[in-house]
Amino acid sequence: MPYEANPADDARIESLLARMTVEEKVGQLGVFADMVRPFAPDVNPEANVRNAAEVLEQVRAGRVGALFNGVGAAQGRQIQRVAVEESRLGIPVLLAADVIHGMRTVFPIPLGEAASFEPELAERTARATAVEATAAGLHWTFAPAVDIARDQRWGRGAEGAGEDTFLGCAFAAARVRGFQGEDLRAHDSLLATPKHFAAYGAVAAGMDYNYVEISEGTLRDVHLPPFKAAFDAGALAVMTAFNDINGVPASANRALLGDLLRGEWGFPGVVVSDYTADMELVAHGYAADARDATLRAFDAGLDMSMQSGFYAAHLPALVESGEVPMAMLDEAVRRVLSVKAAIGLLDDPYRSLDPARETDASQREAHEALARDAARRSIVLLKNKGDLLPLRRDARIALVGPFARDRDNLEGCWTLFGDRSRYVNVEQGLRAALADGAVLDVVDGCAMEAELEGGIEAAVAAARGADVVLLAVGEPQRYSGEAQSRTRIELPPAQQALAEAVAATGTPVVVLLRNGRALALQGAVRDAQAILVTWFLGSQTGHAVADVVFGDFSPSARLPVSFPHDSGQQPFFYNHPRTGRPETPEMSEFKARWREHPNTALYPFGHGLTYGRVEYGATTVAAPALAWDGTLRVCATVRNDGVRATEEVVQLYLHDRVGSRVRPVRELKGFRKVLLQPGQSLEVAFELSRADLAFTRADGTHGAEPGAFDAWIAPSSATGKPARFELLPPA
Ligand code: BGC
Repeated sequence: MPYEANPADDARIESLLARMTVEEKVGQLGVFADMVRPFAPDVNPEANVRNAAEVLEQVRAGRVGALFNGVGAAQGRQIQRVAVEESRLGIPVLLAADVIHGMRTVFPIPLGEAASFEPELAERTARATAVEATAAGLHWTFAPAVDIARDQRWGRGAEGAGEDTFLGCAFAAARVRGFQGEDLRAHDSLLATPKHFAAYGAVAAGMDYNYVEISEGTLRDVHLPPFKAAFDAGALAVMTAFNDINGVPASANRALLGDLLRGEWGFPGVVVSDYTADMELVAHGYAADARDATLRAFDAGLDMSMQSGFYAAHLPALVESGEVPMAMLDEAVRRVLSVKAAIGLLDDPYRSLDPARETDASQREAHEALARDAARRSIVLLKNKGDLLPLRRDARIALVGPFARDRDNLEGCWTLFGDRSRYVNVEQGLRAALADGAVLDVVDGCAMEAELEGGIEAAVAAARGADVVLLAVGEPQRYSGEAQSRTRIELPPAQQALAEAVAATGTPVVVLLRNGRALALQGAVRDAQAILVTWFLGSQTGHAVADVVFGDFSPSARLPVSFPHDSGQQPFFYNHPRTGRPETPEMSEFKARWREHPNTALYPFGHGLTYGRVEYGATTVAAPALAWDGTLRVCATVRNDGVRATEEVVQLYLHDRVGSRVRPVRELKGFRKVLLQPGQSLEVAFELSRADLAFTRADGTHGAEPGAFDAWIAPSSATGKPARFELLPPA
């Protein structure tokens, strides 16, 4: 819901501003770790007591705008009481945390959930997350991450919606709507923070925190739109990125924070730094020292400083010297206070701080059911040779691999507060779905990254005695997330060796892949009869896997990232610009390809099988031309020739045949998930207008260019035959 300022709040904010000292103003711009209720209180308890006292003292002195990554309603009230009753002006603090994909109930990692191609699902899981997070004494989450990840070496792709901008926009907006709900002032509304602004996913070589060299066109067409979508959905905060963009750090980037965000987009909310990002301007070599870094960040438009303490230490002197005008300081403080007002904190400082709500478990079952549904809706069936899946319940099953019984790698990165006592692992899920006495032989085979003595022998014996192997392999959880970049996006060698040995028995293998990014599957894993991509699915992992394995749920998810043949193809994404030497059979060897591999994906963006058998009719356009101000209907008929009902993700792709800048080979411009009963056919239509064809043109303006276009309605980004149409120039 887009935010509208309330005049009564404005008057109140002005009256506060008039009474604030410079220190108190600067205090509102500080975001610090919540040491009163830290999320890992058992670590160094003595230091915690001391730090808690220090933090409360800072709150009392009016030097804290927000605290983050602490949790608990009762202690939250204590903090707020100090702010409201013991600080001079009684301004409440915002209580924030990284609540990314679930609070107590953990939902799939955002990348996995994007595979559902169901933004409504993400909206529902974000809503449930907000209900639990606000019950635990939080007002504000540092989510959603809306970074577009075109390089799978980068570990933080797990936090976003994958490689595609259209899909990314849909999920960004849905998550903001879900977190914030209908009414920002409601006690269960959680303030959203799209991050990391901007182009964080474009770090060179996929190495976290690395530099970004990017064209204006790619920045605007690929990386910025999900932020705009999040703001249009009502987000009132944004977090800056650690990286520089073409030499200017994002956290001190006036073109980005000033000209674009405030100017062009008119963003009314607060800009918060990432963790110590202002301090890092010195390490970047963009600021000489702490004072200089403060000036550069603040002057560029960074309102709130997280954790470095730089603003508190240096802004007062910068105001005193006139280098920072008081009016500019007031503007930043006004924005922070406006956000506090917008969520009702100035009226009710104790909103979202109700210990009774925190212990209320009445929503638990509903959230668990949602977590199970979200998890199975995120599982992608890559391959299913000979319809090996779904399995019969009377099959003799060997569940093999380090993820079979594991409980430490279910949640995925950035889960700080999950209720681990309620997690369901793969073995538990399968057993719950099987009758007592069914044959399920469980063998680890190896550890995550090392061989186990006798492990392979035991696994081979189990495989020999089974009708089918469920091979639970993949990336340990800590391989994805912040600072977890990889050069080779493959399985650890010990797991690959296990896969080879098990496959050599000849027993059919279903791979249950655990992953926080697209992987370059090798050998026996790549060649298994069936592959299910299970990401990190959260609390209900085991039940969701069992639902799909035994066919209680027909998989319906699609890849939000391309699976390459080889790590060396990175960055690899389906919507790359056209080359002058594409890989076509007519070309000689002087074409865009690798010596070892074709220039294709092993499994492309949008790919995913179901337990149905869906056939696509030809893509047709209602007319050969789209008038400049008109609309054009593009449609295709899909038919389920299988014997099981299924949900199919029907995708619309477009290609601009000639452009003033080289255009992507295809771009997703629409998708729809449709339910198809056996034998049912359905016409799926999309309506296009000029806006769908727009991009950043060679002259820097945004708009469409008349000419020929291709349109595909297809089951993935690498299939289908296009229909042609023409965009006519303005009459
Ligand atoms: C991450 C952010 C996160 C922040 C606060 C940083 O290291 O980059 O995504 O919100 O820490 O925990």
